[in-house]
Amino acid sequence: MALRQDDKKFHTLLDNKWVGSKSGETVKIYSPDNQEVTGEIPALSQAEVDAAVAKTADVQPNWEALDGTERSELLHRWAQELEKMTDEIGDMIHKEVGKTLSAAKSEVKRTAQLIRHTAEEGLRTHGSFIQGDAFPGASKSTKAMVQKVPHGVVLAIAPFNYPVNLAASKIAPALITGNTVVFKPATQGAVSGLLMVEALVKAGLPEGVLNVVTGRGSVIGDFVVTHPKIDMITFTGGTATGQHIAKKASMIPVVLELGGKDPAIVLQDADLDKAAKEIVSGALSYSGQRCTAIKRVMVVNEVADELVAKVKERVAALKVGPSSDDADITPMIDQKSADFVVSLIDDAKQKGATVVHEGIQDQNLLGPTLLDNVTEDMEVAWEEQFGPVLPFIRISNELEAIDLERRNAYGLQASIFTKNLENAFTIADKLNVGTVQVNGKTSRGPDHFPFLGVKNSGQGVQGIGRSIDSMLRDKVLVLNL
Ligand code: G3H
Repeated sequence: MALRQDDKKFHTLLDNKWVGSKSGETVKIYSPDNQEVTGEIPALSQAEVDAAVAKTADVQPNWEALDGTERSELLHRWAQELEKMTDEIGDMIHKEVGKTLSAAKSEVKRTAQLIRHTAEEGLRTHGSFIQGDAFPGASKSTKAMVQKVPHGVVLAIAPFNYPVNLAASKIAPALITGNTVVFKPATQGAVSGLLMVEALVKAGLPEGVLNVVTGRGSVIGDFVVTHPKIDMITFTGGTATGQHIAKKASMIPVVLELGGKDPAIVLQDADLDKAAKEIVSGALSYSGQRCTAIKRVMVVNEVADELVAKVKERVAALKVGPSSDDADITPMIDQKSADFVVSLIDDAKQKGATVVHEGIQDQNLLGPTLLDNVTEDMEVAWEEQFGPVLPFIRISNELEAIDLERRNAYGLQASIFTKNLENAFTIADKLNVGTVQVNGKTSRGPDHFPFLGVKNSGQGVQGIGRSIDSMLRDKVLVLNL
């Protein structure tokens, strides 16, 4: 059987065979642009997931036994096949999750680059050698060889907003290090993920080394997370789901990339044109549906009017519409997400925020809304909006920004805009976040930089090198000579 059953129906991958669910049940995927069905994927049962995990575990020792260079070559071929499918996969990302075609194709190209870099970086992993005599009572003749070995079976769970990139950024480091993979795509974005897997099959994936489990989270979610043959979990998605996974998965490593409430802190000496440009693209690209989006601006009173005016001018020029119209601001992934953003806007308005720019509200299509004079009692000051609304909080000085940020439940990234680098470094030292960007928007990447969140934003570190590290554990061999 092929990946495509017909125009709309897709199979999933089990032991390199494309299969449906035994019950014939499917889950439908709806386009954010027009709510039409873009695809249907198999709704697997727990028994089918169990079989997929068991097979992935069975073949793991063989995969680990292969030379690293062979695994690396597979990844290089995967990158090549993926690039050949850029148009097809880009088109599917565009339809499934409502990204513009150009953004969707860029995601595929970025993913091929990430896989290539992983294929190379994965060859540079090495253990260490420790002599015993550094500890009292032990002698030089006691030596430890610390090897790096894979965990076994990695469960990779990807989000809707980068259905290909944030799947491959888990799968590639898992595979290069000798782990086998159970891949669970987000429902919206699942077909794009399956097409990405098709490229891996074309590249020569050995049977069972990666299996894909699709279906209803309510049926298979907890089942797969708690499956005894899963040895490590890597997840990107919402904070509530990440926290749930961390609680359910006991005694195995869990890497989580979750939500954020990243601030842009703008000081008096900032280049305001640059700050405005970075804030608009940082906050509103893909309609703000990015964990790393700028989600609140803290600006000192002296330049607040000017900054707000500059941001407003840029926002007013953005095109709002369906992703098929190549708009800048496109419909949100679903109505529930849009309703949440609207509730934040309503709450802020009712509590006295100034509406600087009001976006249209047409079902799940929300135009960008700018809110000034946002105060601490407003939900939008703290809640992660994951959508096209941007609050401005006016502050007297940087100490207020530090204080506000340290009370943030999230800790992904922060941006500081200032010409005074010494000041930027001093503030950066005091922010409890994974990454501080100086004079640039918050964002992941380049993809080989470490990427992490603290507090409710995650646990563990990603970015190519660190993701590879997270897929390995120490195994110690002690020589007593
Ligand atoms: O949504 C979470 C992603 O890791 C954000 O990635 O900064 O490249 O858009 P990005």
